[in-house]
Amino acid sequence: VRFAVAFARDLPFGRCVAVTLPPDGARDEDLAALHPEEAAHARGLGAIRRVTWVGGRIALRAALQDLGVGPEQGAIGATKRGAPALPPGLVGSLSHKEMLAVALVARSAEEGGGRKPAATVGIDVEIARPPRADIAPRVLTPDEHRRVQGLNEAAAARELLIAFSAKEAIYKALDPWVGRYVSFQEVALARDARGALVATLALAHTEGPFAVELHEEPASGLILVAARVRPAPRCS
Ligand SMILES: CC(C)(COP(=O)(O)OP(=O)(O)OC[C@H]1O[C@@H](n2cnc3c(N)ncnc32)[C@H](O)[C@@H]1OP(=O)(O)O)[C@@H](O)C(=O)NCCC(=O)NCCS
Repeated sequence: VRFAVAFARDLPFGRCVAVTLPPDGARDEDLAALHPEEAAHARGLGAIRRVTWVGGRIALRAALQDLGVGPEQGAIGATKRGAPALPPGLVGSLSHKEMLAVALVARSAEEGGGRKPAATVGIDVEIARPPRADIAPRVLTPDEHRRVQGLNEAAAARELLIAFSAKEAIYKALDPWVGRYVSFQEVALARDARGALVATLALAHTEGPFAVELHEEPASGLILVAARVRPAPRCS
């Protein structure tokens, strides 16, 4: 089966579906699974981009189906910033690697005159392999760097990759609220007493405040991190 479901799970922030990407790319017959507008978009993409884009849409469709949302809602296009544009009342996010595409979708009540979802989600997948060490200064804050340096080599490499993945997931969940590039230095990660990842935002602009939640999902050979972002009450 092409674009077969690798796993489908309920995560704390929504329904997550991963599909495997065929090594020979997306063929014309694979596009039949998509909405005609999505298929037309896919035909305009180069081979490498096409297979990940198609896999992402197939994973999104499968996750939406699991929530009881059928294809009659129309094509899943993209926002002008590149995020998947889901039907009203739904939020979602995508991530892909060479051989896997992962989608996360959730229902979300719309607030403020029905315009903004109450919370948004982000997902990121990475292959669990040692990352290039030279990404550390860009990805980690000085505090995170110190924490990671106290670990053995394998654990440090894993924490670096988890930090990268968590920040990308946060970026995707944050994007609808801020609509700008957010640097890796604007998010600080720590582990609480139980070892759970906790994020603190230090946004360079005056957006927010936002509450950020993270979830690390165990998945063989992968790093899989989900994020949820919602406006937080302002401290008075
Ligand atoms: C946008 C970005 C997060 C994508 O990550 P990536 O590792 O290149 O690719 P992934 O496979 O994980 O994700 C790609 C998907 O992200 C989604 N995406 C793209 N831009 C997005 C945005 N601005 N907001 C939310 N989702 C976005 C798309 O669905 C895309 O897949 P598609 O084009 O096939 O639909 C990344 O390229 C980026 O620009 N990062 C900015 C810096 C950052 O992460 N800072 C972290 C601190 S918060």
